[in-house]
Amino acid sequence: MAVNIHKPMITEMKRRVLEALRESSGYLSGETLANRLGTSRVSIWKHIRSLEKEGYLIEASRNGYRLVSSPDLLLPYEFPGFEQRIHYFPEIGSTMDAARELAKRGAGEGTIVIAEAQTHGRGRLGREWLSPMGGIYFTLILRPKISPANAPRINLMASVAVAVTIRKLFGLNAGLKWPNDVFIEGKKVCGILSEMDAEMGEVNFVNLGIGINANTAIHQLEGTATSLKHVTERDISRKEFLGALLVEIEHRQPSLMEASLLEEWKRLSVTLNKDVTITAPGEVITGRAIDVDATGALIIRERNGSLKKAVAGDCTQ
Ligand code: BTN
Repeated sequence: MAVNIHKPMITEMKRRVLEALRESSGYLSGETLANRLGTSRVSIWKHIRSLEKEGYLIEASRNGYRLVSSPDLLLPYEFPGFEQRIHYFPEIGSTMDAARELAKRGAGEGTIVIAEAQTHGRGRLGREWLSPMGGIYFTLILRPKISPANAPRINLMASVAVAVTIRKLFGLNAGLKWPNDVFIEGKKVCGILSEMDAEMGEVNFVNLGIGINANTAIHQLEGTATSLKHVTERDISRKEFLGALLVEIEHRQPSLMEASLLEEWKRLSVTLNKDVTITAPGEVITGRAIDVDATGALIIRERNGSLKKAVAGDCTQ
């Protein structure tokens, strides 16, 4: 799939028209907008039409234009400060594939691929990630200066950011199940998948994929999963959620290698101090989850007292 490495959907003028409408409490005439933005009235009208096609409700009267409502779509302009780095797709195979292609072609740190729906969403361990409309699906391209062994800390950081966002916005008890699932009321609400490209002991990029069951109807999910809509009993604002989450992730990036990240993960963990079975490639480990090490590996005390480390795998608890 060819991905346009330049802004695929956003035009700077359209973003500025929307910004002007948002900032205005009343009507703005085409002429005022045109003068303010240094363009023609015809150009303003075209951008207004284009915004309407995307779902923005814009009232046009003798007095000018007024923004009545915005769609709950994850359009780039909805994320001020991030919009220039966002590649937006109404539907895509997987945001991981697009992000990989972009990263290979040199896309910078912080590039974000967002899709409203995925036809081939990917989960951990080769599983499918159901991605109907209503969820939040995105991949963030990161180029951290860390050794590949520490890359799993990125997933820990992301899972903490998701849980904290859920707690802040909805006051819900979101917890973290190792390695990086976010759970509410014993069911999975968010999954995280990262793909790394590294050579000679250096990370080239880590693509961090996050899938959140936001307004996903419960019948569209597996029995072990839940959605924010289901637990809050209302439609949530996906753009508010994603905006807040992007800020949480950005705030945590500088402390990726600090002990405070692990402390935060441990505080939110619903796996530590539980009896677990880890099905890892080539082995099954059963025992009490007692800690995570600096790379995010789970430390398990087996019944015979010996300590085992799980780096990846499935956790049943
Ligand atoms: C898991 O198995 O728990 C991980 C799920 C990760 C899903 C996200 S949705 C955005 C990105 N694109 C994908 O195809 N997968 C990840």
